[in-house]
Amino acid sequence: MSTDVGVKELNARLADASPREILACAFESWPNCALSFSGAEDVLLLHLASKLRFDVRIFTLDTGRLHAQTYEFIERVRETYGLRIDMLYPDAEHLQRLVSEKGLFSFYRDGHAECCGIRKIEPMRRHLEGFDAWISGIRRDQSPTRREIDVFEIDAQFSNMGVPLIKINPLANQTSSEVWNQIRMLDIPYNSLHDQGFASIGCEPCTRPTGPGQHEREGRWWWEEATLKECGLHKK
Ligand code: ADX
Ligand code: SF4
Repeated sequence: MSTDVGVKELNARLADASPREILACAFESWPNCALSFSGAEDVLLLHLASKLRFDVRIFTLDTGRLHAQTYEFIERVRETYGLRIDMLYPDAEHLQRLVSEKGLFSFYRDGHAECCGIRKIEPMRRHLEGFDAWISGIRRDQSPTRREIDVFEIDAQFSNMGVPLIKINPLANQTSSEVWNQIRMLDIPYNSLHDQGFASIGCEPCTRPTGPGQHEREGRWWWEEATLKECGLHKK
């Protein structure tokens, strides 16, 4: 069976499955699978995965620009679950050149693509080379750019030529309130920024709280248009 057909078949079979069932299927189908953890509400996936696999491979992109609260939260999660979290870092030379030539806030002037490329995409590409699949916490309700995502996908951003990388989105069909109900019901620790009006959490200089009636992504890269609010980790 081709990877394409396999992915389609899984999407059809698990159309109404819970995040836990999707994770279980992901680990069974692709044992060499990495779980991403951004330090936000995707902690739900980390919690569920830790119950399914004691040796789950978790990674976080440490862009160097996360909020202090996010660093504290990552440490709390590491201690609470007793898990190893692989912290991924940007290439020192590339980062040094960018910051030396353009300063620490170039993204406000010429867009976030270059900085996200160095602090997020490059380290993630390097890390994912060692895996057959990865798990992400993206959801359809997060953004117009994510409305079309499937639960199982062939990753359009990180697949190497000829070698498909599978991307699994166990929360794709969940709404924000469904995710938060599970976090509360299961008494899962969460980032304290969520209690300060941050619905979506990214890097500190590129994230701000949202008010009532605002969509959660409005606090991300707020100086850019909605259609540009992707850092390149998620391509359909
Ligand atoms: S982003 O692409 O706009 O930054 P977002 O903050 O919505 O993404 O998070 C969605 C998913 O992207 C997370 O659940 C995770 O899969 C991945 N992700 C985002 N930031 C990180 C990070 N710092 N480390 C690991 N994964 C991340
Ligand atoms: Fe740089 Fe902002 Fe992207 Fe973080 S979100 S990598 S600070 S542009």
